Amino acid sequence: MKPLEHLTSRRSFVLGGLAAGAGTLGAGLLENKIPAVADTGGLTPGDAAILRFLAAAEILETDLWQQYNELGGIQDAEVPGGSGSAAYTGALATLDADMAQYIHDNTEDEFTHFTFINAYLMAHGAQTVNLDRFRTLPSSKATGAQQIGRLTNLMQLTVDTSWWTRYRSRTKNPDFGDTFPQAVPGLAAGQFPAIPRNDGDLSPDDHLQAIANTAGFHFGFIEQGGTSLYPSLAQRVTHPEVLRILLSIGPTETQHFQTWQDKAGNARPLTDPTNGLTFPDLNSPPFGGEDFQTNLIMPEPTVFLSRKFPVCSVIRPTETQGAAAGAVKALAADGLFRGQSQEFFAVINDLATKADAARHGTG
Ligand SMILES: [Fe+2]
Ligand SMILES: [Fe+2]
Repeated sequence: MKPLEHLTSRRSFVLGGLAAGAGTLGAGLLENKIPAVADTGGLTPGDAAILRFLAAAEILETDLWQQYNELGGIQDAEVPGGSGSAAYTGALATLDADMAQYIHDNTEDEFTHFTFINAYLMAHGAQTVNLDRFRTLPSSKATGAQQIGRLTNLMQLTVDTSWWTRYRSRTKNPDFGDTFPQAVPGLAAGQFPAIPRNDGDLSPDDHLQAIANTAGFHFGFIEQGGTSLYPSLAQRVTHPEVLRILLSIGPTETQHFQTWQDKAGNARPLTDPTNGLTFPDLNSPPFGGEDFQTNLIMPEPTVFLSRKFPVCSVIRPTETQGAAAGAVKALAADGLFRGQSQEFFAVINDLATKADAARHGTG
């Protein structure tokens, strides 16, 4: 199959509002023998379903990153909204002096991800994704946050921190059904805010620092999810240009993840005096060793595809079966959708089911 170069070059024409363009372009694609173009203007239904799920995932990522940026990032023309919380920004800065910049840049990246994918879908006459009707969850009441409806909830998170040991294990891989110990067991066992819920959360110091530390580990959780989601779904796309999109966006999630796991390792060990949440010293017993050591931020080699092969340093997991549904399940278990409507879950699960039903090389 030929790449969709002629479509890409004419995207601005289609996006300019000439809806009829999509049909014209679709006819052109038929001549190129690209399968199943009729209802999606050149994308196979499976490709469109995968892109729609990814657009939804990116909209959700953008929503949560915007909340972080409003209070702990840099507010500017690239990432507008909010006015910042000096105290929260300061607590985040104990993980790295440049945290505010990194939060800003991760936020902007997510915005461009969903905006691009939706524009690409539209350029091919395919249905786009808009979740605005689900912006019903409350904002933080802390000074610095916008008071608008949100898609995601960062104030009652149950953060799975097993990504930490997953990338440090030399013998296990989630694709083999292996499970991994938590870096911060307390975070995975309760419900904790990752942003100040109100100005009362700005003190005492160890409470605010625990909130910033929670954010630090949550950043890694979110971005390792994207790091696996793109290669997992890439195995199901049909058109080379759609593959190019997934292969070009996915590794930016990995760049984010790599940064965040380095920063999470700087989270100061402490116990939150208000709720007992403890961040352990990951370099000392009962932690420590290769599975916890904070400067082991490069992925360790591990088993891949089959134990008969030598170990290999890889992204994990990359199993394609049920990858989209698995991502939704992980985000829901994280507490991000606490308070969302039944309809929201129905829409997201439907997008995931359709993405997971796509098969490489089929219409
Ligand atoms: Fe993204
Ligand atoms: Fe991301």
